[in-house]
Amino acid sequence: MYASFKSIGAYIPKEIRGNDWFISRMDTSDEWITKRTGISERRIARTDELTSDLGVEASKIAISRANLNAEDIDLIICATISPDFYCMPSTACVISEKLGISNVMALDISAACTGFVYALSVAKAFIESGMKKNVLIIGSEKLSSIVDYTDRTTCMLFGDGAGAAIISATSNKDEAITDINCSSDGKQQDLLLTPGIQSGEATFMQMKGNETFKVAVKTLTSDVEMILERNSMTNEDIDLFIPHQANYRIIKAVGDKLKFPDEKKVLTVHKYGNTSSASIPMAINDCYESGRLKTGDMMLLDAFGGGLTWGSALVKFCGTKD
Ligand code: ACO
Repeated sequence: MYASFKSIGAYIPKEIRGNDWFISRMDTSDEWITKRTGISERRIARTDELTSDLGVEASKIAISRANLNAEDIDLIICATISPDFYCMPSTACVISEKLGISNVMALDISAACTGFVYALSVAKAFIESGMKKNVLIIGSEKLSSIVDYTDRTTCMLFGDGAGAAIISATSNKDEAITDINCSSDGKQQDLLLTPGIQSGEATFMQMKGNETFKVAVKTLTSDVEMILERNSMTNEDIDLFIPHQANYRIIKAVGDKLKFPDEKKVLTVHKYGNTSSASIPMAINDCYESGRLKTGDMMLLDAFGGGLTWGSALVKFCGTKD
């Protein structure tokens, strides 16, 4: 059996938080934020909306676009760093209950901004081993609940949102996900972290931004070079380059090094900010809904995040238009 990327969905919270919100509360400027990050606005979930709620809305769309019913799903994987609960229950379990799916394997993945690519990799392995047929993968984040809004060096970067996809078994090799590479380096865990349970400190995100920036550019570039080379492909074989949306300058530096023309580079960071594990599926959904992503298109996903973790994937889009 092969694993095929059958559908995409997303949930974009209604509240738009522009740069003005930060300018009125801390020593910063619109010029600094847009020049250093490319971000103009981000979405913020309502107080009563949890990460699972965002994930549920994205999942309903992905399930419907795959022409499936909730009961067809036999594995739920939710990537998140802002779970509804610490430790347990997993956000995937909460989502299963809210979707009305019982008796299903459900688990969370903690790989920060690489979470969606990690989830894709686990889904692919379960399908190729013959253990599961229709896997729901979700990247969902309510980062506004773990952002320190007194820290001007991180707080304006992040937003809330969710994306979901259905990965299904197929015997048609033409529809198979081509390749995925996931990796990590725990030695660099201090670049991005949320101190918490063990230390007893507040669980806000902390980041050494400048150091992370440099490692991100280097890792995102080398990861793409590696996956293209090992599949005897070049950037000409790629229809859409969809990197994790952390910072416009990172995307530009990586895209330029890899010589992707602008029409192949996908950019959403200006309107959603960094939504961690949700950023790649939200970007895929944007392309799908705008008609930019078509059946049979080859997507190159490229992610990097806390852990450190990173991953890239060559994925043919096998969904159909609504
Ligand atoms: N407004 C105004 N000035 C600011 C602000 C602000 N909001 N924040 C920092 N500054 C100041 C700093 O104090 C510093 O001043 P100084 O020169 O007097 O010391 C100056 O601006 C430059 O600060 P840097 O940190 O060097 O700025 P940089 O150009 O690196 O941009 C940023 C910071 C945007 C955070 C960038 O480093 C970045 O995007 N890093 C990578 C983020 C990333 O990719 N994360 C990975 C994924 S996230 C995840 O996994 C959850």
